[in-house]
Amino acid sequence: MTYRFKTDLKWSDVTPKSAFLNRRSFMASAGAAALGSIAGPALARIMTVPSQYSTDAAPNTLEEITTYNNYYEFGTGKDEPARYAKALVTDPWSVTIDGLVDNPGTFSLDDLVSGMTIEERIYRFRCVEAWSMVIPWNGFQLSALLDKAGVQSGAKYVSFETVVQPENMIGVQRGVLDFPYREGLRLDEAMNPLTILATGVYNEPLANQSGAPIRLVVPWKYGFKSIKSIVRITLTDTQPYTTWKAINQREYGFYSNVNPNVDHPRWSQASERRIGAGLFAGREDTLMFNGYGDEVASLYADMDLLENY
Ligand code: MTE
Repeated sequence: MTYRFKTDLKWSDVTPKSAFLNRRSFMASAGAAALGSIAGPALARIMTVPSQYSTDAAPNTLEEITTYNNYYEFGTGKDEPARYAKALVTDPWSVTIDGLVDNPGTFSLDDLVSGMTIEERIYRFRCVEAWSMVIPWNGFQLSALLDKAGVQSGAKYVSFETVVQPENMIGVQRGVLDFPYREGLRLDEAMNPLTILATGVYNEPLANQSGAPIRLVVPWKYGFKSIKSIVRITLTDTQPYTTWKAINQREYGFYSNVNPNVDHPRWSQASERRIGAGLFAGREDTLMFNGYGDEVASLYADMDLLENY
């Protein structure tokens, strides 16, 4: 197994793989690690830091995470990215950071994470995407990268752009969207510690269909905000173009916070069904901000979320 980031530390370096297969054993090993009884202080530090963002729910399997996807560059069917994304070329890869930053440039993946602490770089937490999965992401806080880039005082938003490889992307050839796929966040959303750039799942590099080699994860927003295979990050003073809002502004707003009180014009968003929960599992009530209200509600304290959907 090769790791994209030379400096990457893997869960499997510090804990048996079985420990993240179910919550009870994960917590047992985390508890033991916190006491320093398994592998000493380094493990304790790593295992306890991300736990504040962890969920009680059992994670989906890697099979589920990588076979039911949205990645329109590889077709609009949920099973198509798994079939066609093998053609994506992810090595070499570089990300351009530009706009209102002191240190613009084009960076390798290693350059992006150099100098970050382990705490900034490793996460394991709940992410319920548009169709409800719990995914143990590996990644680093977007804020750590933006701090390195040196955000200028005039910047208010961050925009993101996906790679376009027409020869490798069947969805680009079919012209299903106006590519490149683009997304955006307000700067304070981007700086929130829950917002990460993911580089792996279950300690393995991201599968291409999951957005290799680097994709955004914003746990309190609908899944489409989580743009894949990022090649450009731009700091701006105006609200950026976002792909789905451009296609249908009435259905897809800029904010797209998970909000059971705001229906999609064509369906209710008050409940969700967890993928992999089994045919007979009931729907669960969708939680405001996907359950992250304590962390993010203050970002929207002065806003009407029915208008700013
Ligand atoms: N990023 C790109 N470049 N292209 C896409 O079509 N789809 C979005 C988002 N990121 C998409 C994308 C949508 S609609 C969703 S729901 C999530 O990716 C799905 O992420 P997942 O396949 O990892 O669950």
